[in-house]
Amino acid sequence: MLTIDIGTMRNLLLILCAIALSTAELQEDTQPRKFPDGFLFGSATSAYQIEGAWNVDGKSESIWDHITHRIPCVLSNCDTGDVAANSYYLYKRDVEMMRELGLDFYRFSISWTRILPTGFPDKINEAGKNYYNNLIDEMLKYNITPMVTLYHGDLPQKLQQIGGWTNPEVSNWFSDYARVAFELFGDRVKYWFTINEPKETCNQDFATGFKDLSGIADYLCAKHVLVAHGKAYEIYNNEFRASQNGNVGIVLSAMWYEPESDKDIEAAEDAAMFEWGQFIHPIFSETGDFPNIMKERIANRSAEQGFPSSRLPKFSPEEVALVKGSADFCGLNHYYTFITYRNESINGLYESPSYHDDMNVITYTPNDWKNTESASTNVPWGFYKLLTKIRNDYGNPPTYITENGFDSMADGIVDDNRVSYYKSYLNAMLDAISEGSDIRLYTAWSLMDNFEWGTGYKSKYGLYEVNYTSGKFERVPRKSAYFYRNVLKTRVLDINFEPDMSVPICEEN
Ligand code: NOJ
Repeated sequence: MLTIDIGTMRNLLLILCAIALSTAELQEDTQPRKFPDGFLFGSATSAYQIEGAWNVDGKSESIWDHITHRIPCVLSNCDTGDVAANSYYLYKRDVEMMRELGLDFYRFSISWTRILPTGFPDKINEAGKNYYNNLIDEMLKYNITPMVTLYHGDLPQKLQQIGGWTNPEVSNWFSDYARVAFELFGDRVKYWFTINEPKETCNQDFATGFKDLSGIADYLCAKHVLVAHGKAYEIYNNEFRASQNGNVGIVLSAMWYEPESDKDIEAAEDAAMFEWGQFIHPIFSETGDFPNIMKERIANRSAEQGFPSSRLPKFSPEEVALVKGSADFCGLNHYYTFITYRNESINGLYESPSYHDDMNVITYTPNDWKNTESASTNVPWGFYKLLTKIRNDYGNPPTYITENGFDSMADGIVDDNRVSYYKSYLNAMLDAISEGSDIRLYTAWSLMDNFEWGTGYKSKYGLYEVNYTSGKFERVPRKSAYFYRNVLKTRVLDINFEPDMSVPICEEN
């Protein structure tokens, strides 16, 4: 017979209440809520996920070109980004979609290997430069602000062969590339994101090629990503800020870790510090450097495991100073909330050494948060708690929500689940703003369906559906596009708004 003690029962009830509360808030009498004046709305994509043209016009191979061409294939359905959503050729249609939605800005990424085929600034690829100039100019023609990510997963394969993000020289390779981008596009681009999701960049075996080196390679990568970011920020300050006057920051992926019970508060805090604290702390805390819990835990475990020094590399005092404060804003990608706990069942659960073994927590998604058509869960209170924690623990930095969105395995354009997700997450963000969080912009991921890394084209995040089978890559607005369009038009979140999909979205302009 299953027995549940009173404490566990209380905690389960607390979790259920929190869930019920967050949905009830939306379903009942939520009045239309206004967004702050000057608040910006946009949408995002990244180069490898949409451009295609992987080897066209002088572009060289990136790590994702390399991974997806492995035989036998390693990804879902043997998908590749060779053609993706074909945006290299369809960028004008992409800008048209931005106009249909009424976007203030569009966040896209530059493919390093399209601009610098050798990985180094010895030779700039004219065709690559022209492509991004055309895209930027097309957006500016319609008053859509370009926001540019310099690195979104697609490291030059040539650099990977010499260690990629684990080679300390990578901070120079990256910042040299950043300088080229500032020089080429900084007259028109005023928002720069150096590196997208360092945690994912460093911890995904199949992207880094460092399988079985967790607990070593991922920490080297983390340090080098931070130093690379710091150097790019310094270059912008020293060489470009006076003439270009833009904003430079980094984009962190941050989940919310909810303790399963009061005794798991420390476990949840550890999870947050190991996941996003490892990047936010060095940049936004008063002291800089990795969070103490990481430094202590990894040093102790490394000693127990017989390593002569900590597996977590040290920053020099100069590096701490370079990285600390190196951002004009905090960019956040938020998707998931997990319940988190730690008990004896953790012993032997993870390989040792490894990042997860060091973090030493167990996380899960309760069954009633899951649904069959999507890996996403609708837990807006997790988003609210995350934003509140960042406000309280990191001095309320200007915060950009650089990604948030809902994936679906289902075909079709009536995406009610995605609409509810956007409603509840925008509502949660407004709650945080009303309590003082300095959130300046929101970015829906994604403008259109695209290559979703390990799950290929099966997983769809688009406001626009992309037809991959016709050979024409038509983009068709989903219900969520109509909903988002209305938010942008009215600058109000009206959860009772029902889009009328019988009206072509272009006619509403
Ligand atoms: C964050 C990543 O930046 C993006 O590339 C990805 O598609 C989304 N998460 C959804 O998984």
